[in-house]
Amino acid sequence: MEALQFLFSVESWRMAVFWTLSLIFSYLHLLFRGIFQKSQSYPRRSLHPSSEQPICIITGATSGLGAAAAKYLSREGYYVVLVGRSSHLLSKTIQEIKQQQEDVHLKALQVDLSSFQSMLSFKSSLEQWLLDTNLHPSVQLLINNAGILATSCRFTAEGYDQMVETNYIGAFALTNLLLPMLKNSSTPSRIVNVTSFTHRCVSQIEVDEETLSGKYLKCFSKSGRYPFARTYEYSKLCLLLFSYELHRQLFLMDPSHHISVIYCRYPQFRAADPGAVKTAIMREVPRHVSQLAFTVLKSLGILQSPENGVDSIIDAALAPREASGQYFFGGKGRTMKSSPLSYDAKLAEKLWASSCELLREAQLTMQESTKAS
Ligand SMILES: NC(=O)c1ccc[n+]([C@@H]2O[C@H](COP(=O)([O-])OP(=O)(O)OC[C@H]3O[C@@H](n4cnc5c(N)ncnc54)[C@H](OP(=O)(O)O)[C@@H]3O)[C@@H](O)[C@H]2O)c1
Ligand SMILES: *[C@@H]1O[C@H](CO)[C@@H](O)[C@H](O)[C@H]1NC(C)=O
Ligand SMILES: *[C@@H]1O[C@H](CO)[C@@H](O)[C@H](O)[C@H]1NC(C)=O
Repeated sequence: MEALQFLFSVESWRMAVFWTLSLIFSYLHLLFRGIFQKSQSYPRRSLHPSSEQPICIITGATSGLGAAAAKYLSREGYYVVLVGRSSHLLSKTIQEIKQQQEDVHLKALQVDLSSFQSMLSFKSSLEQWLLDTNLHPSVQLLINNAGILATSCRFTAEGYDQMVETNYIGAFALTNLLLPMLKNSSTPSRIVNVTSFTHRCVSQIEVDEETLSGKYLKCFSKSGRYPFARTYEYSKLCLLLFSYELHRQLFLMDPSHHISVIYCRYPQFRAADPGAVKTAIMREVPRHVSQLAFTVLKSLGILQSPENGVDSIIDAALAPREASGQYFFGGKGRTMKSSPLSYDAKLAEKLWASSCELLREAQLTMQESTKAS
């Protein structure tokens, strides 16, 4: 019954039709470009054997793509900090990786990206851990991978829509919190944001604080019709807009610096789109529906395992420095353009301002509540 109800909702159809079309569009685009012109691709660079062991932070590392990325990068020689909400799942993931390869360096740290308080304590635990283990207080690679597809309307302690906060605002806040440590790296550090082809389905977008915080969604929580597909696309487009905006802010608007200087001081930015991957992302979708979706995607030949789907994320993480600001899709180091809307600099600037304002509000609320207690 629940599955049937779900199947006949507008949002499910949006997901089934629009998302599949945008995925097919992406692959066709890659294919044609591959035939008619040389496609832009970047090789993976392995680590310098002599350099200090670099530190990589992966959010949402307890499942699917995050876990696959943790496995791959720890073998590459990174000290991988796995981040997720559940300490139980974190230790389970570490055990599984260690069973396959013993001599890897892994550390688990808990954080809930839908809570500012939790992100602040994450930062202090990270600093404390680096101090205790005698590691340099810097981070070389940050992968903003955690993400959810929520099918019901839920609000966080800060009063924001949970999906937007997890997928976008959380990544924004965490990136900001970790920026000093990313800049402190002696080798150029990198940030990879895991976004999605679904961002192509957004044709119009509002990025004011009201919309961003999901306050307009309040009315949906009662009627039960939460526009989950649209909200997911929205969160992924915001992540992209942000990627390009920070890229512009740090690289292009600072002509007084030599590029090489900027390259050492600031992290580089890349976005990765894994395509369709069989993970637990559809955990909130009725089981029959998600199975149907996976069957259809598989018959179209575009469903990947996490081990293959992670390719674009690893490509983005290990690409040479010229790859800054690129959108990785399709593996083999290949990149492509994201949607035209995602390159709208005015929109990105507005989003930046709203996000900073939300962050400031959250900080104020937190200060007040600590004063009160
Ligand atoms: N699968 C696909 O087809 C596909 C396609 C395009 C893009 N993506 C993107 O790829 C990323 C990874 O997704 P996946 O497919 O690997 O999904 P998944 O298997 O559901 O994994 C999601 C991860 O995010 C973590 N997470 C969720 N909420 C969190 C929170 N509030 N704070 C911290 N961690 C949280 C979960 O860990 P805990 O539950 O332990 O906290 C889990 O490890 C997402 O950003 C997704 O949007 C996926
Ligand atoms: C950067 O590294 C130096 C040591 O090389 C350390 O003293 C300083 O506190 C670090 N800064 C940050 C922001 O972690
Ligand atoms: C990643 O997303 C965060 C938060 O939205 C943003 O601050 C950062 O610029 C983005 N970086 C990349 C590489 O996409």
